[in-house]
Amino acid sequence: MHKLQDLLPVVQQALDAIDYPQAPAELYTPIQYELSLGGKRIRPVLTLMACEMFGCDYHYALDAAVGIEMFHNFTLLHDDVMDKADMRRGKPTVHIRWNENTAILSGDAMQILAYMQVMKSPAAVRDVVCVVFLQTALEICEGQQYDMEFETRQDVREEEYIEMIRLKTAVLLGGALKIGALIAGASDDDARRLYDFGINIGLAFQLRDDYLDVYGDAKTFGKNIGGDILNNKKTYMLINAQRLAQGAERDELIHWLAIDDKPDEKIAAVTALYNRLGVDALCLEKIDTYYAEAMKQLDALSVEKLQTEMLRELAMSLMQRNS
Ligand code: IPE
Ligand code: IPE
Ligand code: MG
Ligand code: MG
Ligand code: MG
Repeated sequence: MHKLQDLLPVVQQALDAIDYPQAPAELYTPIQYELSLGGKRIRPVLTLMACEMFGCDYHYALDAAVGIEMFHNFTLLHDDVMDKADMRRGKPTVHIRWNENTAILSGDAMQILAYMQVMKSPAAVRDVVCVVFLQTALEICEGQQYDMEFETRQDVREEEYIEMIRLKTAVLLGGALKIGALIAGASDDDARRLYDFGINIGLAFQLRDDYLDVYGDAKTFGKNIGGDILNNKKTYMLINAQRLAQGAERDELIHWLAIDDKPDEKIAAVTALYNRLGVDALCLEKIDTYYAEAMKQLDALSVEKLQTEMLRELAMSLMQRNS
C-alpha cells in the first residue's frame, strides 16, 4: 500500500505527461496553467488508494485518476466564473488572467480531455467505469445549478443544502473511490460501501470548505475569504444563522443579504453575526458527524482493517485541513 506522499508525485508525473495539441495555444495554455497551480490532488489519490486496497496495481487506475483530476479542474474553471472568484490556489483565476470566454472554452476542452483519459481505462472495466464517471459528471452539474438557485432563495432548508453539496462535491469523491474499486474488481457491496464513505467524506469536505471560506487564511486557503458571504451562498452556516437569528439580529442579517455594494463591511458584519449565533461551532460539529459516518463505512468493508489505513489517514487530514 502506498502512502499519500508516494502517490502525489505519481499523479503529478502522469498529469505532466499529458500530450496537448500544439494549437491553438490560447485554448490549451489555460488548461496547463490551471493544472500547474497544484491543488491537493485528493480525488486521483482516492482512486489509486481504492484500487490498491483491493489488491490491484495502481497503474491500472492511473488513466482514470488523471481524468478525474482533469474533470475536477474543469469544474473549477467554470465555477470561478459563476462565483466571480478572482483567486484560486493563490493565483489569478483563468477568467481573470485571460477572460470569461477563455474560461468557458478551455473548460469545455478540459472536460473532453477528461473523458478521453477515463476511456483509456482497462477494456474489461471501461464501460462500467465510464457509466459511473458520466453519472457523476451530470450530478455535479445538477449540484452547481442548485447552488446558484439557492443564492436568491431565502428559504433553503438544511436537507436541501446537504443534497446540493452531495451533488456538487461529494459524488466526485465517491465516484473517484468507486472507479478505483471497480478497476480492482472489488465486489458490488464493497464498491457501494466505498462510494458511501466518499459521500460522507465529501459532505464533510464541502462543509470544511464553506467554513474556511469565512474563517480561513487566504494565504493558506489560496482563495479570497468571504466570497460565499458576498454571493449570499446558502451554506450550512448561513442557513443556521437564518434559523437562529431573532429580533435585531434577524433584521441585521436580512439587511446585509440585500446589500451588494459594500463588500468589506458585509463580510465583517455577517461574520460577526455567525460568531454571535455560534454557527461556526455547529458547522464543525456537523463535519465530525459525517466523518464518524464515513469511518463506519470503512469498517464494514470486506478487506483487512490494515488495508484501509491510508484512507483513514487521508480522511483525518482532510477534516483538519486549512488549504
Ligand atoms: C475545491 O476543491 C472545490 C470544492 C469541492 C470545495 P479542492 O479543495 O479539492 O481544490 P484543490 O484541487 O485542492 O485546489
Ligand atoms: C465547488 O464549490 C463545487 C464545484 C466546483 C463543483 P465551491 O464554489 O465552494 O468551490 P470553491 O470554494 O470555489 O473551490
Ligand atoms: Mg461554487
Ligand atoms: Mg467557487
Ligand atoms: Mg467554496
